[in-house]
Amino acid sequence: MSERFDLIVRGATVVDGSRAPRYRADVGVRGDRIAAIGSLDGNRAAVDIDASGKVVSPGFIDAHTHDDRLMLSAPEMAPKASQGVTTVVAGNCGVSLAPLVLGDRAVPPPLDLIGDTSWYRFASFKSYVEQLESSPAATNAALLVGHTTMRVVAMSDLDRSATKNEIEQMQAMVREALDAGAIGVSTGLYYEPARAAPTEEVIEVCRPLTGRKALYCTHMRDEGDHVTDSLEETFRIGRELRVPVVVSHHKVVGLPNHGRSKETLSLIAARMASQSIGLDCYPYCASSTILSWERTLVATKVLVTWSTPHPEFGGMDLEDVAAKMGIDKRQAVLRLLPAGAIYFSLDEADVQRVLSFEHTMVGSDGLPHDAAPHPRLWGTFPRVLGHYSRGLGLFPLETAVYKMTGLSASTFGLKDRGVLQQGAFADLCVFDAATIDEAASFARPIQPARGIEAVIVNGAITWRDGKPTGARPGRVLRRDVG
Ligand code: ZN
Ligand code: CU
Repeated sequence: MSERFDLIVRGATVVDGSRAPRYRADVGVRGDRIAAIGSLDGNRAAVDIDASGKVVSPGFIDAHTHDDRLMLSAPEMAPKASQGVTTVVAGNCGVSLAPLVLGDRAVPPPLDLIGDTSWYRFASFKSYVEQLESSPAATNAALLVGHTTMRVVAMSDLDRSATKNEIEQMQAMVREALDAGAIGVSTGLYYEPARAAPTEEVIEVCRPLTGRKALYCTHMRDEGDHVTDSLEETFRIGRELRVPVVVSHHKVVGLPNHGRSKETLSLIAARMASQSIGLDCYPYCASSTILSWERTLVATKVLVTWSTPHPEFGGMDLEDVAAKMGIDKRQAVLRLLPAGAIYFSLDEADVQRVLSFEHTMVGSDGLPHDAAPHPRLWGTFPRVLGHYSRGLGLFPLETAVYKMTGLSASTFGLKDRGVLQQGAFADLCVFDAATIDEAASFARPIQPARGIEAVIVNGAITWRDGKPTGARPGRVLRRDVG
């Protein structure tokens, strides 16, 4: 009996996102769902994708992004769609675009990582969600509301802890964001505008998360000498609120701390026995954020990613910039500000240990508006599949895919996503497991990956033949944990 489908991926090797062994099948899509998996010979479809010799997997979930504004300003989402990403988790590190109207105020770093003053124009989280829903992007999004963004709204002076009244204002913002569809709160306690917030402030601000099936994600206060204290702080917040926590871009920074991922991962594993903990990481031994002199001190090498007064130095080594300017590096940093940078400050063995840890999700932490971005923006997922899984054999393909699909969907509570099974949403990635890899590098960071054949979001093809199709089927996803 012949059935009709909207789309059939034919002859593929299915890697289903659950870590189950791969198998051969056709995948039939009807509307926005996977309608059939098996032999679909003799069935017709409006669109056929020949995937013989290729893999079809669930579309990748980017567990950690700063795509809040990219979804509005470049909705084809090329840096992500080109990697097979079908869902992004946005609003990380305490920084969300909403709810903040800056008017004519300057944008305080690190909020400038995602947009200038003009982009901070959403008075409520709901108005941002409505904008995304009325003018969708090519990827789905799960959204966090940022603690730092809320601090900028509620407080005139960020160098102190919030007062009772300011905390109440932020609680109201959290409630409003959750009502509008946010899946939780993110903090960036590492960054200047949130550093003065004591643990108690974070707990109180996040109080509305309790009982709402929401979660807490954090760029921790310290990823260097005091990383274990920061982990304990994060776990305490999760316990007091009775919510799951996600440790963002887990790493140990600075030469003296190299190797300490052994310690941090065993602490995480121990605490996981009694509370819900997730973590993500990006597959590189260099980090990237705003430029500051203090941050350069833990790095062996620093690359400038953008500079407002000196855009001509984007992509250059700080050493060379200082030489060109004829001043020392410290003075050069001051002249470049506001600016961003890449810091080579991680140990490759730690990166591999964190990435291979059973519970680690893959997240890019890409900074989409940098002039010379960290290559993680365009390369994260193909690099894990190509370099780390196929090349180094760090883990099998099934595990690599799980870390970017099924694990992330269950951690974030994204129902019927991240798994390739009948009835699930048709978010799919067709790729060549033999050739997939990043093409981006530190020297040439803006390059679509190799080996991505087709990317499908809610049944619509968003990326094909090395370019975006123009389809924008993305949805704002709610957290659903039954
Ligand atoms: Zn961060
Ligand atoms: Cu981040």
